[in-house]
Amino acid sequence: MIKKDLVSKGKAKSLYSTDDDGLLLMEYRDDTSAFDGKKKEALKGKGEINNKFNGFIMKHLQQNGVETHFVEEISPNESLVTRLDMLPVECVVRNIATGSLCRRLGVEEGIKFKDPLFEFFLKDDDLGDPLINDNHIIAFGWGTQEEIDFMKKQTFLINKVLCTLFDEANLILVDYKVEYGRTSEGLLLGDEFTPDGCRIWDKDTGESLDKDRFRKDLGDVVESYQIVAHKLGMEI
Ligand code: C5P
Repeated sequence: MIKKDLVSKGKAKSLYSTDDDGLLLMEYRDDTSAFDGKKKEALKGKGEINNKFNGFIMKHLQQNGVETHFVEEISPNESLVTRLDMLPVECVVRNIATGSLCRRLGVEEGIKFKDPLFEFFLKDDDLGDPLINDNHIIAFGWGTQEEIDFMKKQTFLINKVLCTLFDEANLILVDYKVEYGRTSEGLLLGDEFTPDGCRIWDKDTGESLDKDRFRKDLGDVVESYQIVAHKLGMEI
């Protein structure tokens, strides 16, 4: 596989074309950002742990009926993925109320939902990724009704599979964000699943082991990601 041109550079990952038109190379960098890019820092080792973490989760999802764009890890901080045409929306599922939900609605932190809560956000840093609904997606042509239905069904399936995985490791999957993209055959889970894009709490202590450590200046960000990886049984 030959790494060719930079296709896009996000806040924590870079995408490169390869000698295969249908495949992209995803490079996980140490760069870490929060608050729509307003807070930034490079954290040594984060690229590597996130690449491994993502590979582990994507493989687990694939084994449990969730097709993804992930192909294989090809170096400590690089993976091959299927080229997708990404939808400009983020899908968030919450099992416990925290974060922007509590700020937006003034609701108490820590409420456990009987059924998981689903939200769509528009991917737009300048607008602060606003909350949107199904009607916005249809009205502005960001996706079809069929795609909306698929994203909800698939994101809830991901929740079921991953809540079990985390629960068995004495961890709580509080909430997470996933993104989807189009192939000629329909939508596929794209982007990443790492502690950068989800909230994970220790079941016994309630300690945050995810990017909230960076957002709230709690320290030991990479170390916490490694603890989660270890508890999930990853070889790191
Ligand atoms: O900030 P908020 O509470 O809406 O985040 C919900 C979940 O989605 C968190 O796990 C957060 O890490 C993730 N998220 C993300 N990227 C964003 C917004 C939220 O990964 N742009």
